[in-house]
Amino acid sequence: MNYSEDYYSLNKMLTNKPVNKEEIGIGTAHSKIILMGEHAVVYDHPAIALPFPAANTKVTITPSDSHESYIQSRYFNGKLAEVPTELDNLKEAIKVTSTSLNLKAKPLNILIESTIPSGRGMGSSAAVTVALVRSLCDFYDCELPDYLLQFIVNQAEVIAHESTSGLDTLITSSMQAVIYKKSQQPHPFSFGLDAYLVVADSNQEGHTKQAVGKVRQLKESQPDFINSVLEAIGTFVYQAMDAIRNKNIQELGRLMTYNHYYLNQLEVSNSRLDQIVNAAWLAGALGAKLTGGGMGGCVIALAQTAQEAQAVEDAMKAAGAIQTWQLDLKSI
Ligand code: MEV
Repeated sequence: MNYSEDYYSLNKMLTNKPVNKEEIGIGTAHSKIILMGEHAVVYDHPAIALPFPAANTKVTITPSDSHESYIQSRYFNGKLAEVPTELDNLKEAIKVTSTSLNLKAKPLNILIESTIPSGRGMGSSAAVTVALVRSLCDFYDCELPDYLLQFIVNQAEVIAHESTSGLDTLITSSMQAVIYKKSQQPHPFSFGLDAYLVVADSNQEGHTKQAVGKVRQLKESQPDFINSVLEAIGTFVYQAMDAIRNKNIQELGRLMTYNHYYLNQLEVSNSRLDQIVNAAWLAGALGAKLTGGGMGGCVIALAQTAQEAQAVEDAMKAAGAIQTWQLDLKSI
């Protein structure tokens, strides 16, 4: 039984009213992990990122019985018109979708289900918005070319994150790893590496908007130093691409660690993240760093074998991580 069928039977059971199959819109999206290059990517340096389907989002839209739209999510249940400011990006996405596609807006029930922890640098806000825009287009039965989806989600992401590279939008809406630079076409590639990526949730909410703002302020107050840090991160990213092509995982790990050191210079790490990074190194990781906006969120580590990845996961948990995932880089 697929998700839609599940939904129809559940609805029928609860309300005893069958839902008209035509009147439902479903959209999905997955989370993302930035391997290297976050923050510098906002200033047109390159970054490497990959889709992370283990954590994902589903949005279901049905017509509302009342004359107003309602939203149901883990953070807010109520009228769309009364969402807290943190969810203004969703209102913006609905508004831009309706205008761009000339939709005849109807009152809707919007159900958001997500296994992506928010504020963890995993692209939760972009993924929810991608799924929302897809569900609207499914509901209204309209075409949604990739460029339009990305345009709409980026408008909403500017509200969520202040200034954005567009990387979260791209990765949460596509299934390929990419090397990405804002001013150029993204370049998809396959890792195909005999190595494992461990992702660890620090159990501390990250603050991408503040972190992006902080880097901008530092750049304004110390332009020479910060520009050299951003430049260095960009160089590590190109070197990391060479390491991936040459299947040199030791070198890739070393570059990830350097990247973390430079993110520290941008003041977007904190003691919790540093502790988890240190624990991963001590447990034998080839490299470790924060991922995403920082100031909380997630840490990633590279390990050679599944057994070594397990030891790294255990050490990261002992250092405060609440949840970990393992990703086989051969499969991507
Ligand atoms: C957030 O996941 C990544 C940042 O580089 C911001 C962005 O690229 O928009 C911090």
